[in-house]
Amino acid sequence: MASISQKTIDLIKDTADIVDVVSEFVPLQAAGKNMKGLCPFHSEKTPSFFVSKERQIFNCFGCGKKGNSIIFIQEYKNISFMEALQYLADKYHIDLELDEGNFPAKSNVNLYKTNEKAMEFYSLNLLNIDSGKPALDYLMKRGLDLDTIKEFELGYAPNKNNDLFNHLSKEIQPLDLLNVGLINKSNQEGYYDLFRSRIMFPIRDEMNRVVAFSGRIFNDNTNPAKYVNTSATEIFSKSHVLYNLYRAMPFIRTNNRIVLMEGYMDVIKANMAGVKEAVCSMGTQLTIDQAMLVKKQTDNVIICYDGDKPGQEATYKAIRILENAKLNVKVVSLPDNMDPDEYITKHRDFKDFLDNNQLDRFEFVYKMIVGHKDLSKPAEIEDAKNKLFDFFGKTSGMIREIYLKRFAAESNINYDTLLGDYHQTQIDEKILEDYRLKVNRTVLTKTAMPKYEKAEIAVLNYYLRDKEYRKLIDAHIQQMYFTNLNIRALMQTALDKIKEWTTTPLIAMRSGLTTESVNLLEGYVNEKYEFAMEDLQSCIRMLMSSKHRQTVADLKDELSRLDSKKDRDKYLEINEEIKHLSSQIMELEGRKNGKKANY
Ligand code: CTP
Ligand code: MN
Repeated sequence: MASISQKTIDLIKDTADIVDVVSEFVPLQAAGKNMKGLCPFHSEKTPSFFVSKERQIFNCFGCGKKGNSIIFIQEYKNISFMEALQYLADKYHIDLELDEGNFPAKSNVNLYKTNEKAMEFYSLNLLNIDSGKPALDYLMKRGLDLDTIKEFELGYAPNKNNDLFNHLSKEIQPLDLLNVGLINKSNQEGYYDLFRSRIMFPIRDEMNRVVAFSGRIFNDNTNPAKYVNTSATEIFSKSHVLYNLYRAMPFIRTNNRIVLMEGYMDVIKANMAGVKEAVCSMGTQLTIDQAMLVKKQTDNVIICYDGDKPGQEATYKAIRILENAKLNVKVVSLPDNMDPDEYITKHRDFKDFLDNNQLDRFEFVYKMIVGHKDLSKPAEIEDAKNKLFDFFGKTSGMIREIYLKRFAAESNINYDTLLGDYHQTQIDEKILEDYRLKVNRTVLTKTAMPKYEKAEIAVLNYYLRDKEYRKLIDAHIQQMYFTNLNIRALMQTALDKIKEWTTTPLIAMRSGLTTESVNLLEGYVNEKYEFAMEDLQSCIRMLMSSKHRQTVADLKDELSRLDSKKDRDKYLEINEEIKHLSSQIMELEGRKNGKKANY
């Protein structure tokens, strides 16, 4: 395995400016010395995602994600450290210089060692120290025994500010602890531990290296997140790891199957119940990279996610992903909304249940879609039908025929009628697919203001008219806001279609639109419009101002939820921001000293 040389990594770090990297994906605006925008990692209306050019980092005060350019790309694109380096190298035309050979880069060896040491510290705290007693009691109450706790190397992170840091500071560099995401640094207090008062689950990768931790709350923690995982680091990306894979490998081979679960406790309890080929995707979002990890071990997967609705819906999605990796998928659905951990605690016959209740993936999907439907009601038949088309539209024709015939019989409709509907949806799908993707679902909260709408229609007309106009619009499109959803969608279609404009823009536009949208388009487009660059500039300013108004409305919304005394700093900060934006709005709309903004 070749890895990327340290020299190249350093060059990428120096070249990939954080503001430049982030702003390709997240619109940023100035905020004092920093830039800020809406966090791409959690949903929010008011920006709490800050980017510091000076420190070359991003930091979200809402969800806590932070890091450098490489980590941003890793997290944003959900890819590995190597892939992120490759991406940035491409972007900045940097040649990748490789270190040949089987050795991981030297710096990573330190990181694995740091995690090992931390794991030992947490384990010591759980098993040998009084303050760990409540955590140990909790695990025992949940049915674990000491052997299992040791086997899975569970630990306890004490409820102190910097116990881990102090304990390890003699043998481990602070930088390594920072780089594996175990500590952080604050200007006032110096280094502090990130995991506090949590039960620690070490996460090992497929090469048996400790790459991350997950910490679970138990009784005396005020932070309500049940599990907190190490955020992405140079050696960890959650989407590339399956918990317990290394330990499970020999059992996967012996049994020629892997059992895929959602959670840590599920896997650990399954082990106690004799199912040692269990791994978990650490939640319901299985990724194609995790599927590829499975593929290296076996072709046979049994999905045993939680028996509740989210678990079953996630099973459906996981089937799709595992199918793409050409794996044989079976499903075991647990009764009464239980997860494997709960089932094992209650029934103890988990292994038998698993062996005797497997559905093949088609049967599972068919039952999931049709099982709860009242097939005497046309609306329910219709709903089930559409969902069946969606899944069985992608299977082989033979499987499709088997299940559509069964559905026709069960819902008492003619198979030919059903097939006719199926072919019709296939045609509609093709036409609609593109368009659907393009409709931005942003919720419109503000009343549409006619003068903005007028400018929106004008911008659309300009865009379809001439290359020079398009250039100007393209340059500002990120800062513009379209209140009218129809125009917004048409604009989006135009932006996406532009590459295919071999004919006139209007004809190209029409080809991908529904009749309804074509009518709309023709209503908006006016060939006799009086086109002039001056006019377009003022329309663009209008829509930039519209975007600011949107932000101001959101900020005011947030202000109304704040307590002006308790949240004083935040309150003042938002007020400042509103003042700043308001003056920009005035300027953009030409109401300040009659001067037009220079943009
Ligand atoms: N998970 C996570 N981060 C969270 C919540 C969940 O990584 N904030 C992952 C964990 O791997 C967790 C799994 O998703 O084990 C399933 O979550 P959930 O069903 O909520 O928890 P359980 O596994 O049932 O955990 P427990 O039995 O300890 O309550
Ligand atoms: Mn559980």
